[in-house]
Amino acid sequence: MRRRDFLRHAGLLAGTAPALGALAPTIRSRRAGTVDHERPRPFDPTSWSDVRDQFALTRSHIHMASFLLASHPRPVAEAIERHRKGFDKDPATYWGEHFRSAEPNVRAAIGTYLGADPAHIALTDSTTMGLGLVYGGLALRPGQEILTTPHGHWSTLESLNLRAKRTGAKVNTVALYDDPAETSVDMVVSRMRGAITDQTRVLAVTWVHSSTGVKLPLSDMAEALQDINSGREKKDHVLFCVDGVHGLGIEDVTVEDLGCDFLMAGTHKWMFGPRGTGLIWGRRDAWDALDPIIPTFGPSVGVWIGALPPDTPYITPGSVHTPGGFHSFDHRWAVGEAFQFHLDIGKDRIQQRIHGLNTRAKEALASMPHVRMYTPMSPSLSAGIICFDVDEYAPSDVVEHLRSQSIIASTTPYRESYARLAPSLLNNEGEVDRTIDAIAELG
Ligand SMILES: Cc1ncc(COP(=O)(O)O)c(C=O)c1O
Repeated sequence: MRRRDFLRHAGLLAGTAPALGALAPTIRSRRAGTVDHERPRPFDPTSWSDVRDQFALTRSHIHMASFLLASHPRPVAEAIERHRKGFDKDPATYWGEHFRSAEPNVRAAIGTYLGADPAHIALTDSTTMGLGLVYGGLALRPGQEILTTPHGHWSTLESLNLRAKRTGAKVNTVALYDDPAETSVDMVVSRMRGAITDQTRVLAVTWVHSSTGVKLPLSDMAEALQDINSGREKKDHVLFCVDGVHGLGIEDVTVEDLGCDFLMAGTHKWMFGPRGTGLIWGRRDAWDALDPIIPTFGPSVGVWIGALPPDTPYITPGSVHTPGGFHSFDHRWAVGEAFQFHLDIGKDRIQQRIHGLNTRAKEALASMPHVRMYTPMSPSLSAGIICFDVDEYAPSDVVEHLRSQSIIASTTPYRESYARLAPSLLNNEGEVDRTIDAIAELG
């Protein structure tokens, strides 16, 4: 393929790069044009019942564990179906026509949502893939160490463990709180500060802990790190790396608000993106510290085949760090619709709604003498996950009792396990109250 052909197909010549501005009306008009015949009324994103109607989730149960894996909302399901049909009819042609523009479209939508430069967004298949790539690939000089916490998910802890086994990297651990319900910003920041040494190069944390429901005060932690880094050479800066999967899709923030250097998240939980999708966002200069592990299929291939010059601006950190190989593109290329779905509803309204439902549930639970809460009450230290115990019941018994009342909850998959609820955009006040009533019966 000649260079010009490559660029033309890539949609990369001036004026042809598909920007989000161009994508958004397409998504909207498709959505309006393809709603099923039983329900022709267009989606009203200001109505919570309309939001719920976008999901094919069964109505026979109350879904209090929907954050585990997304049900696809209508615009996402329709986009997947559109791509699937195209691939099923003629995979080579469909791929050839779309592969150069589809991922830039997805990155543009994510960038708008996160307030991030699309060039700094890599696409992955899950949080776990992002964590593995970042913790497996961050360059450490001799003597440099990683600091983490015991509060993270297996995917963080095992990524670091694998890294330590492969390279001998030293991983230290600091508990940022003891009793999760009593967590405070000062406690988290001072414990973090106390554990950072001159050798610490990487701080690996989880934004919202699926073990306890605690949400770390990332911006306060970032401020303290800025202070520490101001006395260090750039090559020794502590890189602030975050598993963000249970904050993304809830909190109305940009990456600048968070203040981290790398954010890894699945987009198939609270974001309602296609199952099997995720992202890594990295700060401009932080990417320099990360070595790619899996070859990309991005514009670097164009350089390799001689269709693009080696200094082409289309080679971005986000493209270089997007693992290549053919993917389930019908899912990946529909990620933009999930971010647009959230933008249509409004990030601020989503944050308010999820926190509102969670506060309602937490206040009711906290008033029950037979319930012990582990998640902090404050919305500044919690998000959409509530962990608790009921006197004399194992967490699995609590979940079983709720299931007998058609309420789907979960237990935390950790050595110390609790019962867990996750009120979300798929719930309403009545469902929260029914769930609380079912737990009250156990007293
Ligand atoms: C905090 C946390 N990180 C990572 C994961 C794994 O996410 P993914 O399925 O996107 O790899 C989970 C749960 O599945 C989780 O709770």
